[in-house]
Amino acid sequence: MLHEELIHPSQNHSLEIAPRSKSPQVYMETFGCQMNEYDSELVRSLLKTQGFGFTDQSDQADVILLNTCAIRENAHNRVYGHLGKLKYHKKERGVVIGVLGCMAQNLKKELLESQPFIDVLVGPDGYRQLPSLLTKAMETQTRGLSVDLSEYETYEQILPERVGGVNAWIAVMRGCDNFCTFCVVPYTRGRERSRDPKGILEEAQGLAARGYRQITLLGQNVNSFQFERYDFAQLVTAVADIPGIERVRFMSPHPKDFPPALLDVVAQHPHVASQIHLPLQSGNDRVLDAMGRNYSQGDYRRLVDDIRRRGDIPLTTDIICGFCGESDAEYRDTYQLIEEMSYQAAYIFKYSERKNTIAAKKFPDDVAEATKHERVAELIDLQKNISLQKNQELIGQTVDVLIEGDAKKSSQQWMGHTESNITVVWDKSLQPSHPGEFLPILIEDASASTLFGRPLQSLPLS
Ligand code: SAH
Ligand code: SF4
Ligand code: F3S
Repeated sequence: MLHEELIHPSQNHSLEIAPRSKSPQVYMETFGCQMNEYDSELVRSLLKTQGFGFTDQSDQADVILLNTCAIRENAHNRVYGHLGKLKYHKKERGVVIGVLGCMAQNLKKELLESQPFIDVLVGPDGYRQLPSLLTKAMETQTRGLSVDLSEYETYEQILPERVGGVNAWIAVMRGCDNFCTFCVVPYTRGRERSRDPKGILEEAQGLAARGYRQITLLGQNVNSFQFERYDFAQLVTAVADIPGIERVRFMSPHPKDFPPALLDVVAQHPHVASQIHLPLQSGNDRVLDAMGRNYSQGDYRRLVDDIRRRGDIPLTTDIICGFCGESDAEYRDTYQLIEEMSYQAAYIFKYSERKNTIAAKKFPDDVAEATKHERVAELIDLQKNISLQKNQELIGQTVDVLIEGDAKKSSQQWMGHTESNITVVWDKSLQPSHPGEFLPILIEDASASTLFGRPLQSLPLS
């Protein structure tokens, strides 16, 4: 018989693992944002120190973990699709199945009840319990649940297990207190809390020593970072000052927290990328107010003016189409603002009502599905043209690119990013080089998402 057990994150369950002939093998898949990827690195580290091994073959795993996302309906559907496939592994081989992350947190028991083959359900603040819950599930078929949110958990002292490379991500704060009315994150990741900068800087120094060149500071609301009197501008500066760290980025900031000191760091520090992701969501004041964003389109414009006064700092954004009650005229305001802002890129989403959110309780999700689709398609089209035009303007210019690895489409090509975070691709044969190196690349061609070029030194070839 399976039975459930509730564990509170504050309890210390460092259950000893009985010696085994072979360590249990874990297969893990991650959905959602970079924060979830980072959490999966924490989970790898937590499980490895407790005697688990990892495999990339799901059919050889003793444990299958899905680290899930709940941000929009299609994120849920992807996870349900995967869960359906896992039933087979459960039936055939009796693997232990664990669901982690935001969807586990948001649906809790509902998920456990509707999917009886899930053994372990753990939310983003419960990962310290995961090794013991998995061990119990393997040894005594006990179902385990750890979905209490913590006000303090920042996984201090746990060094994430990274795959290696040039780029690393560091979570500097967790949770979100903004409660934008459409958003599930405050419910899946709980209250805002910042890590001690001492631990963050040690982690960053360790990464520099291991050859990482670019660090992205992560948080659901990253520029709200505050530890005692130490603020985000100080943190970004301190990380960028570490020898060996060539580029620092951060994700995702909120427009409400951009003091001049932070803008100055972005504009002036030689190792902070001159680029800002500045989520707009909507260009209409009634919609922004209903979304609980705490700024008007005028405030947003003023912030952008402040940014652009400091120099050429490319902006990217997030937009939601078809939020509750969005009229055609209100949508047009967003269209116009996008045109005017001339973003480098925009991530455009269809509003998806999320359980437990303020919008779900307060407003009807009343924009027709077809209208949402049309608006998303139109904005994607608009932004594509803007991005293409901006990228084409770079043809003939030389940009500094950090080589990150093979291009997606061909191992004969290198891929890297410009300081403003545009993908650049070129043939490896043009110049011997290696990941982690900076190369000046002469841009010869451009699409809306990618620049194509050649290393400056290889020029005489043509
Ligand atoms: N903390 C970040 C965003 C995290 S979610 C920020 O405030 O910028 C990333 C993006 O997903 C959001 O910016 C928003 O555009 C989109 N999003 C969040 N909830 C959504 C929902 N219910 N429906 C559609 N898009 C949503
Ligand atoms: Fe969600 Fe708003 Fe918090 Fe971003 S700032 S995570 S959109 S509640
Ligand atoms: Fe998804 Fe949670 Fe990230 S809902 S977007 S995985 S914070």
